[in-house]
Amino acid sequence: MWKYVRKYLHFAVIAALFMIGEVLMDLIQPSIMSRIVDEGVLGLNNGGIGDLHVIWTLGLQMIGLVLFGGFCGSLNNVFVHLSGQNIGNEMRKDCFRKIMTFSFPQLDRFGTGSLVTRVTNDITQVQNFVSQFVRGMIRTSLLMFGSIYFMFRLNRDFGLIVLCAFPFIVGCLVFCLMKANPLFSQLQAQLDTINAIMQEDVSGIRIIKACVREIYEKLRFGKANDALIKTQLRVLVIFAFMNLVMNAMMYVVITVVLLVGSYEAGDSGATPGQIMAAITYATQLLNGILMLVMLFQGISRGLASWKRVKEVLNSEPELKDGGFAGETKQQGAIEFRDVSFSYPGTERMVLEHINLTVHKGETVAIMGATGCGKTTLASLIPRFYDVTDGAVLVDGIDVREYNQKALREKVAVTLQKSELFSAAIGENIAWGAPEASQEEIKAAAVIAQADDFISSTKDGYETIVAERGMSLSGGQKQRISIARAIIKAAEILIFDDSTSALDLKTEANLYEALQKTNPGSTKIIIAQRIASVRRADRIAVLENGRIAAVGTHEELLAGCAVYQDIYHSQIGKEEEVHG
Ligand SMILES: Nc1ncnc2c1ncn2[C@@H]1O[C@H](COP(=O)(O)OP(=O)(O)O)[C@@H](O)[C@H]1O
Ligand SMILES: [Mg+2]
Repeated sequence: MWKYVRKYLHFAVIAALFMIGEVLMDLIQPSIMSRIVDEGVLGLNNGGIGDLHVIWTLGLQMIGLVLFGGFCGSLNNVFVHLSGQNIGNEMRKDCFRKIMTFSFPQLDRFGTGSLVTRVTNDITQVQNFVSQFVRGMIRTSLLMFGSIYFMFRLNRDFGLIVLCAFPFIVGCLVFCLMKANPLFSQLQAQLDTINAIMQEDVSGIRIIKACVREIYEKLRFGKANDALIKTQLRVLVIFAFMNLVMNAMMYVVITVVLLVGSYEAGDSGATPGQIMAAITYATQLLNGILMLVMLFQGISRGLASWKRVKEVLNSEPELKDGGFAGETKQQGAIEFRDVSFSYPGTERMVLEHINLTVHKGETVAIMGATGCGKTTLASLIPRFYDVTDGAVLVDGIDVREYNQKALREKVAVTLQKSELFSAAIGENIAWGAPEASQEEIKAAAVIAQADDFISSTKDGYETIVAERGMSLSGGQKQRISIARAIIKAAEILIFDDSTSALDLKTEANLYEALQKTNPGSTKIIIAQRIASVRRADRIAVLENGRIAAVGTHEELLAGCAVYQDIYHSQIGKEEEVHG
């Protein structure tokens, strides 16, 4: 954290100086008060005759001190927040930048909900911690030690009484904090769960309604919420107990001070003004300790949050960038060389001994039941994940040797789930090629069979897409995603089940247009329907993570049982197309 604090240390130091001013004013006041009482009102040093002049001058001094203290306090507040806010701001930016570098496995591991909590709630917690620390540490320690010092100055016995109570107070503090500390990490984790549910349920509210799952989801959310509240209550109980003990302890101190004071008052010992001041100091000490309690609570929370923010900041990019960024001769050839793959952190092999070569300009379709590993296979080409065994080569070079940016510039992917951003349709299409002209955007949309429906809307390419493309139909979203891939002019195009929501006619037109305009690009088409793949140069049939057969439509129909099965199950639809 020092790295961040150091940058804004000057604000913290200025804040600390103002804080010292504020606390000193607080500490001096009771001593002046005791003089007003003893000398001004009771006239103890003047044979019992009060002195109005003393009251006036000391009273004015006190007002001056209060004003100065308030001035220092306000400025302290300003500088404390300047340092806290700036530090939080830097951290938030760094976290965001870091998350942008995360590999797919890292994103899988953290989870979206947790990352959002870390960047928002946790950083706010750290920010508060810094502010509280700068304010509280100086204020409480000065207030506590100052009160003890001034107590000693007033009367040695008063000082000793407070000093005796001190170990008990500290002991109670440590005990409670030890009890509460583990709860703070638990709190943040529970908050994570709540955020994850919130995120899932709010973005999936339509499907929840469609499946009439509202009650179940409410219960699920309620359960997570209850868990959080339960932990929060446990923390509250601990701190309430601590408050109680601290208060009780201080009242004991005040009582003893009063007892000793009145006992001594008869002798030459304490004066009424001193006893008054001693009570004020004892109360200040109590305030200092209570603030310390709050402070430690903030520190515990802040540190628990900092640990979570640190996990993000200290995550090293898992995919080590290769150095190769140059041009290649083959421009779009892919080779899977005995590739096996299991998702990081899991045991099960999703892909096993895949051998497949795709030549430049070839169209290869991948077919297979859901869950057999098609998406996984495709995601190895732009190196979203690293192979567990074997190698994936693009243009004869292992993808791990590529500079990631260079590799991903060669490959355009439409993901199985179309992701659109809340921006204009045109902007969404040009997402991967921001410098594309209006004509290029339109040309890509024409190939993707999207131009017709886009142009028919009132604002055309300027139409704003609602969050995550909610304002569009599935097929429209898919076509915009395809246009986004096409405009990139990449050597390799991967369509992961991207035409599933299109009718067969539109789909056929799309592939035809694509073949005409981009004959040189290598195309990997993942699909479920025979109609989508039959025109491919070759079709690879995946079964349980292995390649069952590779061949043309006719070859597979003649010799591959899995393909025949799929064909026969879809035969009705096939005939529709021919007809
Ligand atoms: N991020 C992931 N982490 C762990 N397992 C995954 C992940 N994504 C997919 N899988 C698993 O890998 C298998 C293959 O998934 P996938 O490649 O998406 O199948 P397909 O695209 O053929 O329907 C599935 O059994 C799925 O459960
Ligand atoms: Mg898939």
